[in-house]
Amino acid sequence: MSNEASEAGRPPAVHVAPDVDTVAAELAAAFIDAARSVVAERPFFVVLPGGKSPMPFFDCLVSNHRDRLPWNRVRFAWSDERWVPAADQDSNFGLARRRLLEPLGLDVRQVACPVATDLETPEVAAVEYERQLRQHWAVAEGRPDWVLLGIGGDGHTASLFPRRRVASDAWVLAVEDSPKPPPRRVTMTWTAFRRSRQLHIVATGTAKASAAREARAAALDLARFPLHGARQCEGEVHWWLDQAAAAEGDGRG
Ligand code: 6PG
Repeated sequence: MSNEASEAGRPPAVHVAPDVDTVAAELAAAFIDAARSVVAERPFFVVLPGGKSPMPFFDCLVSNHRDRLPWNRVRFAWSDERWVPAADQDSNFGLARRRLLEPLGLDVRQVACPVATDLETPEVAAVEYERQLRQHWAVAEGRPDWVLLGIGGDGHTASLFPRRRVASDAWVLAVEDSPKPPPRRVTMTWTAFRRSRQLHIVATGTAKASAAREARAAALDLARFPLHGARQCEGEVHWWLDQAAAAEGDGRG
């Protein structure tokens, strides 16, 4: 079994496109296909990443797929959140609200389940977020349908960083020492991500090439490579790379 295969023995699907815009277009088409197969029966539960990587995907959904889905049947949660107000420019929820939810004309109160960063502490918000996710996802056997994760050049994903606390039985954790500012965050864990029916990881640009390669090919080491958690995924795993991020390294890692 290759290093990349999940516990179920299913290797990830690796999609390589020439450029960022083509990655976004193909990822958006896959999202719409997955959502359309569900929304007739129940809401479609999505987990969005933070950072800049999902922006071309958001823009493609708004410009090319506005009429392809009953969008009010989609429910959005976030893989992680910075400990800032929702109106702050660094808020992952705020970014998705500005670039996806509002341009689609959605009632954010109906479709979005953001982390409550106005609570007392990240610890309190983490416990509350897990309670909300368990409540929201109950109609889907407690599993999200479609999770999208980004990757940092150091191999982190969500707010799970190398050689930091990554493994936990909790679905959501507080983070106080993020190497990527701001230091205080709330993050879902692999205990939640692994439950997804489809897990998608997007990596574009040369800065992500080494981390994307290690995440797929290195021997299992969750502490060193947080994305190795994808190998625990109960559902399908898909990598979405442009040529730059898919480039094979010179072997020096
Ligand atoms: C965050 C994200 C983080 C992000 C990666 C990639 O809160 O910053 O959750 O995990 O996905 O750092 O960031 P970019 O997409 O901006 O390169």
